[in-house]
Amino acid sequence: MGWPYRKLVRPIIFAQEAERAHNFALTSLATVARDQFLSDIVGKIFGSPELPINLFGLRFPNPVGLAAGMDKFAAAVPAWEKLGFGFCELGGVTWHAQPGNPEPRMFRAPADEAIVNRMGFNNDGAEALAQKLAEWKAAGRWPTHPVGINLGKSKVTPLDQAAEDYARSFGTLQGLADFFVINVSSPNTPNLRQLQDKAALDEILAAVQEINHMPSRESKVENRESAPRPSIFDPRPILIKIAPDLSFNAIDEILELAEQRHINGIVATNTTITRPKTKDPSTQKIYAETGGLSGKPLRDHSTQIVRHIYRQTKGKLPVIGVGGIFTADDAWEKIIAGASLVQVYTGMVYEGPSIAKAIVHGLIEKMKKTGVHDLSQVIGNSVK
Ligand SMILES: Cc1cc2nc3c(=O)[nH]c(=O)nc-3n(C[C@H](O)[C@H](O)[C@H](O)COP(=O)(O)O)c2cc1C
Repeated sequence: MGWPYRKLVRPIIFAQEAERAHNFALTSLATVARDQFLSDIVGKIFGSPELPINLFGLRFPNPVGLAAGMDKFAAAVPAWEKLGFGFCELGGVTWHAQPGNPEPRMFRAPADEAIVNRMGFNNDGAEALAQKLAEWKAAGRWPTHPVGINLGKSKVTPLDQAAEDYARSFGTLQGLADFFVINVSSPNTPNLRQLQDKAALDEILAAVQEINHMPSRESKVENRESAPRPSIFDPRPILIKIAPDLSFNAIDEILELAEQRHINGIVATNTTITRPKTKDPSTQKIYAETGGLSGKPLRDHSTQIVRHIYRQTKGKLPVIGVGGIFTADDAWEKIIAGASLVQVYTGMVYEGPSIAKAIVHGLIEKMKKTGVHDLSQVIGNSVK
């Protein structure tokens, strides 16, 4: 499907404004997601073979996940598994519902296979997301793969009240997903990235972990139910998503905090505010837009950050590698640099709905060639 998508489908999609095309794709997938018959057909065409990996006490059927931002409203939760993804990260969600930045706010740069976006966390708020997730569960359409949620800060919440904002969203959603990602790295909420500073981040991590490990909540439930603690209040794995624009020193401070606060992993990386050089006038125009850049130009830098984290933590802190992954080669690069899992956003826009399956197939081929049977044997292999 890769070639037909690029040559036949993509030109039609790219004739539409980027956010319109995104919304059309999501609406179509939501229709698929609600219907068992359509889901089964999509699963037959796009489903990935198994390439399992166990992490955070969860079983991932393959290491290729959907990155945050694609399904902000949990509109198509069951569809991502049918498209061959080994996990999905929903959101970003904030405590307060908010419209995001004015449109247009998503721009393609096809010559560089990149996107610039300044969405600004458009979402319906944590309570609405919780309701949507509960609906998928009640309809019996919950996917079998792990589901994560990306947590952002509401625009109206001042920075010094950020911890409470994240903690409220987390407390509302804790029982409804398998892992959570604290996003302090979006360039599109004013000053959000200041929350990567040690003191501010520590406050957020402390507040979220307090709820995550709240004994009173557990015992209350135990007393009421007079049964073993239901899994909805089990502590969830918590990860931090970082920007590619941080210095290695700043990353090292985050890694220290992560250890102190028992954080389970790092998602590296979000979009970058930097721009590569280009002579192409239409690309220059897109790069002049305010926002975060994703896609091919981000690939090697985010890989370097994955490698740095793996080296610094001696491979002890799992990394989800994200940024510019289009092919199995790109995913392999991230994995041998130290990523236990990878995620894709922009690659799907350019390569189409078969991207996860193509990457998983390619990874299996590479493992055969290398003579390894288990993906965990490959992680960090290029790091000396
Ligand atoms: C339109 C758009 C919206 C995004 N929204 C979010 C978001 O809400 N939260 C987040 O952590 N990352 C968000 N991202 C960043 C992606 O999850 C990913 O980290 C980044 O795009 C790099 O991966 P890629 O090169 O595969 O796109 C968004 C990216 C795009 C292009």
